[in-house]
This record gives sequence, structure tokens and C-alpha cells, in this order.
Amino acid sequence: MQYEVWTKDSNRLGVECLVAGIFEGGELPDETRLIDKACGGRIAALVKRGDFAGRNGDTLLVGELSGLRARRVLLVGQGTRAGLSRRLWRRAAYTAVTALARTRISSAAFALARPAASELDDYWLARATAEIAAAALYRVNDLKTGKKPRPPALARILAGPVAASGVAAARRGFTHGAAVGIGLETLRNLGNLPANVCTPSYLANGARALARRHPQSLRVRVLDERAIRRERMGCFLAVTRGSEEPPRFIVLEHRGGKAGEAPVVLVGKGITFDTGGISLKDPPAMDEMKFDMSGAATVIAALTVVSELKLALNVVGLVPTCENMPGGRAIKPGDIVTSASGQTVEILNTDAEGRLILCDALHYARRFKPAAVVDIATLTGACVVALGAHHSGVMANDDALARELVESGRRADDRAWQLPLTEDYADQLKSNFADMANVAGRDGGAITAGAFLGKFTKGLKWAHMDIAGTAYLSGAQKGSTGRPISLLSEFLIQRAAR
Ligand code: BES
Ligand code: MN
Ligand code: ZN
Repeated sequence: MQYEVWTKDSNRLGVECLVAGIFEGGELPDETRLIDKACGGRIAALVKRGDFAGRNGDTLLVGELSGLRARRVLLVGQGTRAGLSRRLWRRAAYTAVTALARTRISSAAFALARPAASELDDYWLARATAEIAAAALYRVNDLKTGKKPRPPALARILAGPVAASGVAAARRGFTHGAAVGIGLETLRNLGNLPANVCTPSYLANGARALARRHPQSLRVRVLDERAIRRERMGCFLAVTRGSEEPPRFIVLEHRGGKAGEAPVVLVGKGITFDTGGISLKDPPAMDEMKFDMSGAATVIAALTVVSELKLALNVVGLVPTCENMPGGRAIKPGDIVTSASGQTVEILNTDAEGRLILCDALHYARRFKPAAVVDIATLTGACVVALGAHHSGVMANDDALARELVESGRRADDRAWQLPLTEDYADQLKSNFADMANVAGRDGGAITAGAFLGKFTKGLKWAHMDIAGTAYLSGAQKGSTGRPISLLSEFLIQRAAR
């Protein structure tokens, strides 16, 4: 996709279609009024007749408009002028791209009404446009046979109007947004693949392919089971025991900052399928546990974005990845294992496996002397109960880091909410037989999972993101959402700038 900024007079732009907003009640936004004037009042007349109500989400493609170089206008409802918010602007833009994708239009200039600059400045106008276009044009990796639909023709998007003074910022926004868009596609593709395709080895090969595309800046190492044993990752090994599929531990290193500068370490949960193990899950919706590697996919996607942008930042991605299966060799409730940190863990529930693979990866992170460690995981159903699908959960042993992530999410419209990770929760993990148990009952389940990880991150600046509710949708919309790649990209872009 080609992205450009336009500054003035949309009627003269060499594109096939203009995208213009209409407010509910028939009022024309300023840009639309100019377009209307150029085509002899056709738009105002059509609205007056009642052909288009301007409700948010409505679209109408109008053709053969003489006076306009583009000849076509896609009218997009933007709701009431007073109610125009960034959220509604985003929705209108998404709707517009979706509508364009159903046509053979290959280039379009967006001239939607914008919320106040304090909500959407020139940089974010461009960045959000590119991210929204990537999301709306995403097509699931197709394993259906039969006739394939033609891919959308849309190949060039212009956003504006932007004053001359804002062009540089908008161009930067496009660069960032396009990279995040690539990350989004990477993440959703990995998430949506079935577990018989997207295995730990598949993820490792994906990481290797990524590193090959960026030989100057990106290094990859993949530990196999023997190497994982040498690292004494007893908790990780406990989870993979029941599976025939070999585990992998992936290490990606982006060197964009100064040599010796402390890196940001990202850790992603890579359970390619979570049956629950011997503590077997109920059958309904178990297929959705193919999304249990969304944290891992987020980390690989984040390294993709960082590499695309050549961010001036050192970033390490760690991905422990395996299946959680029942079997003759599988771990059993009550088994006690020794983590890489040396602490012993009584596994009371084999379905609390995410924290077991993460605790060994978090311990591994220490060797990088990180500036910050952020783990991303579809960790608990309790987080879905607490926050639903709207916010990712953030827990941290460092409030500034938690706030940084929450703020990044707010700016990127990929929101997260901090949960209180006080010592009280760690107390609930007491075991009569080992240093700790891996579960602590139902109450506060998202936070006790965070507290478990906290026992392995003492002395590190660490935050944990629970994306169980945000990473994918169920039901008719089933599929990876691509969250939280926008949040995480914003976090890294800001870190690189400071
Ligand atoms: N992968 C699940 C968490 C999950 C649940 C993600 C629902 C997405 C949707 C995780 O491994 C798990 O099974 N967690 C258990 C923990 C419990 C045994 C303490 C859970 O949430 O039920
Ligand atoms: Mn589980
Ligand atoms: Zn899981």
C-alpha cells in the first residue's frame, strides 16, 4: 500500500475516489462542502432528498460526478457533529476502507471530518489511517478450497487535509502506521493458523525467516529441548512433557540502540495449543486454545515492526513455545518441579501452564540486564471476567512502567488497564510441599497469576500484560484481533525517541 498526504483542494487530486463525511441530519463537513460545490451541489441535493442519513457506519458510493477529477465520491456517515470523537472517526475510516475494498477502486483520498487536533493530530491522522487500512484489508490465511475472491484493488490511500506545517509529521505517521500494519498482519496470521500448522517449530521458522530479512540488525537463536534442559528450565519442560511436538525457545535480538545500552526484553507465551493437560479443559470452545500463542505472535510481530522501522533501540524477544497436552508422560496435579531460578513449584493445576513456561523465560531475561521486561500472555480466564474484551490487563512491579504501557495503549486506541499487584496476592500461592503452588483459587485469578510471575522478576523492572480477553474474538467473528501490537509498537517507538 502506498500512503500519501494531501494538503489542499481534494478536487484536483489524481485519485479514483474521494472519501467524504456527512453528519447525521444532513449537515456537510467543511471538506465535503468544497467537494459538493465542485460537483454542482449534487451531494447536498442527494442528502436533502433523504438518500443518505449520515449515521455512523453508513456508506454510499456516488459516481459520474462531473466537475470532480475523481468522478466518484464515497459518502461516509460520521454521526452528529457534536458527537464526533476519535473513536467514531476511526470507525468511519474503517467502514470506508471496507466499502472501498468491495469495489475495483485502486486509489482514494480521505477527506473525512476530523475530531479536534488535540484528539487526532496530523501524525496520528496518518498513523491511524495506515493501521486502520491494514486492519480493514486483512484477509484470513485461507485454507478453504474453491474459488477465491479477488483481492481488493485498493493500493494507494491519501489522507488530509494537512497544513504544510504538518506534512512531515503526517509522513512520519504513515511510516509508523504502515510498519504497525505489517506487524498486525504477522500477528493475526500466526494467531489464526490452526495448531497442527502453527507448531513451536513453525514459530521458530517464522522467527528465523524474519531474521534473514534483516541480517544487519536482527539475530535469532532457537533452543531445542536439549538446550532448554541445559538451561534447567524445569517448569517449561514440565509443560511440554505430555506432547509429541518438540518445544522451542526462541531468542530474537534487534540491535538498533547503542552497543551496551540496556535492552527492552519482550516475553511472549507460546502455547500453540492448550488442552489443559491432565486438568483437561471442557470441550466447548476448546478450539480457541489455538490462540494461546498470541503473546508469542505479538512478540514476533513487535520485532517485525522494530526491524521495519530500524528503531534506535535494543530489543530482545523471548518466546518459550510448546503444546500443553495430556499423555502418559504428562505432568500430574501435585507434581513438583524446579524452575530455572531454582525455586520449586507444586503444579496443582496443569491448566495453569502459561505461568510455568513464562517464569523460566523471565528468569532467562536477566542475562540481558534489561532496562525493562514486558511479558505478553493469554494467561487467565479471570482477566476476561474482569476486563472483558476491551482492555488488556497490566500488572507490574514498577508503576512508571505500568503507566507507560497504559498511556501507550490510550494513544494507540489499543487500551489496557492496570490491576493492583500488591503482596497480598502472592501470599495466596503458598504450598505445603514446595516454594509455591502454581494456582491460588478462583478469586483474583488474573492477579494471582501475575503474582506468580512476580516471584521470578525480583530486581527487574517488569510488567505483565494479560491479553486473554483482547487477543481474539469468539463466535461469528472468531479470529485474532491483532491486539496488542499497536500498544506495544507505540511503547517501543516512544522508548526509541527518548
Ligand atoms: N490459556 C488459558 C487462559 C485463557 C482462558 C485464555 C480463556 C483465553 C481464554 C490458561 O492457560 C488457563 O487455562 N488458565 C486457567 C488458570 C487456572 C487453572 C488457575 C484459567 O484461566 O482457567
Ligand atoms: Mn491453560
Ligand atoms: Zn493457556
